[in-house]
Amino acid sequence: MSPSRIANISDTTALARAARIIRAGGLVAFPTETVYGLGADAENPLAVAGIFDVKARPRIDPIIVHVSDIDMANKYGVFPQRAHKLMEMFWPGPLTLVVPKTSSVPSIVTAGLETVAIRIPSHPVALDLIRTSGCAIAAPSANPFGYVSPTEAQHVAEQLSDSVDMILDGGPCPIGLESTILSLVGVIPCILRPGGTPVEELAAILQPLDTGNIVSKLPQAPGQLQRHYATLTPLDIVEEGHEDIKQTDKVGLISYKPVERHEKYETVIILSETGDMREAAANLFRSLRRLDALKLDKIIVHPVPEKGLGIAIMDRLRRCSAGRKVADS
Ligand code: TXA
Ligand code: MG
Repeated sequence: MSPSRIANISDTTALARAARIIRAGGLVAFPTETVYGLGADAENPLAVAGIFDVKARPRIDPIIVHVSDIDMANKYGVFPQRAHKLMEMFWPGPLTLVVPKTSSVPSIVTAGLETVAIRIPSHPVALDLIRTSGCAIAAPSANPFGYVSPTEAQHVAEQLSDSVDMILDGGPCPIGLESTILSLVGVIPCILRPGGTPVEELAAILQPLDTGNIVSKLPQAPGQLQRHYATLTPLDIVEEGHEDIKQTDKVGLISYKPVERHEKYETVIILSETGDMREAAANLFRSLRRLDALKLDKIIVHPVPEKGLGIAIMDRLRRCSAGRKVADS
């Protein structure tokens, strides 16, 4: 792709140009606090169709609508009473709420569903882009369907190259995992995807809360498909000390904290020198991409403790390794 299509946010004209592209029905990749999104004017069905084409995303997979404030959220979604406290506490931030939709949402955005997924991102560039464009922005993660989400502008450039009109480079995404998706449609609120907002923080407010379906076989959200967010290289989740590696195999390791024995591995990536889960989350997708590019025979990842962001990390790793042995359970 022409390098000029990546615009650094320090370029003072970049944001206004990006907003013009959105208003004209084009596609702009932009940073959020979770991952990079591939954005289009949410009320322009043709522009949204472009998102599906560029990602090779099935048209049955609905897209999140990004807004900059609560008034804008109310234009697209019908929020029940119990949503108000959540919006107050977690917005702007990595929580997506699924609620009944209004007629302002074109049906291509929701893949024909009567519900819509909405969030207010907290990344200043994402908020500025929505405000300057003057419209809500429909955006999935800016990766080809089924692959690991991008957490840097360069990741988007490598894969979606000529097919986007502009990539706004706002640096690496601070959270590095997609938003938590919470459905408020049924009687009991239900987590459809664990993510950047820890499930425990939601459970402290919502009782009861259905967290049971996180690794469901029958997807409600296509994000729940077992194999999704996947590297091309086979990935196994194996406890430290239980690795079974053939001499001839080229294997890479990802561990969330320092490991004792390195020598079996071609490459080792430590997500956090102090075992900090936030740092580990922020480094995860970049590390998966780095190892995937090395054309190894296998990627081994040590499981992380399943609390806080660790729940979302394990969810993504399990999807990545779906169809293969999960050694920790
Ligand atoms: O952090 C994020 O959520 C990022 C950034 C860009 O905001 N976006 C993201 O979008 O991860 P995407 O499309 O990659 O994942 C959104 C998930 C999909 O699995 C989709 O099926 C689900 O949200 N979803 C969207 N609308 C829905 C709805 N009405 N009901 C149930 N699931 C929905
Ligand atoms: Mg995605």
